[in-house]
Amino acid sequence: MEIRIVDDYREMSEKAAALVAEQLRDKNNSVLGLATGSTPEGMYKELVKMYRKSCLDFSTVTTFNLDEYVGLSNQHPQSYCAYMHKHFFDCVNIKPEKINLPSLSKNEADPAKVCRDYDRKIEQAGGIDLQILGIGVNGHIGFNEPAKNLPVGTYLVGLSAETIEANSRFFSSPEEVPRKAITMGVGSIMFAKRILLLASGKSKAPAIRDSFNGYVTTEVPASLLQLHHNSIVLIDKDAASLL
Ligand code: F6R
Repeated sequence: MEIRIVDDYREMSEKAAALVAEQLRDKNNSVLGLATGSTPEGMYKELVKMYRKSCLDFSTVTTFNLDEYVGLSNQHPQSYCAYMHKHFFDCVNIKPEKINLPSLSKNEADPAKVCRDYDRKIEQAGGIDLQILGIGVNGHIGFNEPAKNLPVGTYLVGLSAETIEANSRFFSSPEEVPRKAITMGVGSIMFAKRILLLASGKSKAPAIRDSFNGYVTTEVPASLLQLHHNSIVLIDKDAASLL
């Protein structure tokens, strides 16, 4: 694992987009693992800019998103599906049939099968070439919340109080934040050939300190990235301030 510290959010976003572009130039049919949230918004903006300047082509790219709330329709403005369409999918030439978003309805009869099918699709696509990650204030990656043990594959998860609180900024009140989500497991993430974790701002500094202090624990899920042979932690000075 390599930690790269940059000045600010803008530089983090530009460098992240440059790494994605490098990946696509090396392999134009790459499989990208994608994250939502405020952190990668700048990276998506940069990628869209590059696409508009004809510097990037997404027509042969396949994507798998990390996670999605359970109980929000795809059209709900806070669903990760809506986020991805607004910030990325609808702005570039990615083929709709190559977009994969996990999705679980509240009354799904067999959630375990939906999760298994998602993992199988990732496998059939040849695995993820580059996985983009943000990090929660509690060290979560995807919606893998701090826990004694963590599932390897995709699963249905209850969100922690900290995550509900942190994500309530996108909703009118904490009560509106869904309590459950579907998320790729830590195995699905760690099997990616390359991982790029992004973090910006002082609020992420404790999670960054606890994740990359030389110890590994599922109580700080991002700490597992220290075991990945090809992971880059690209963070700004504020996020790195407690390292
Ligand atoms: C989103 C995701 C989450 C976020 C994390 C940070 O797809 O997987 O792990 O990356 O909650 O969110 P922001 O970037 O909004 O601080």
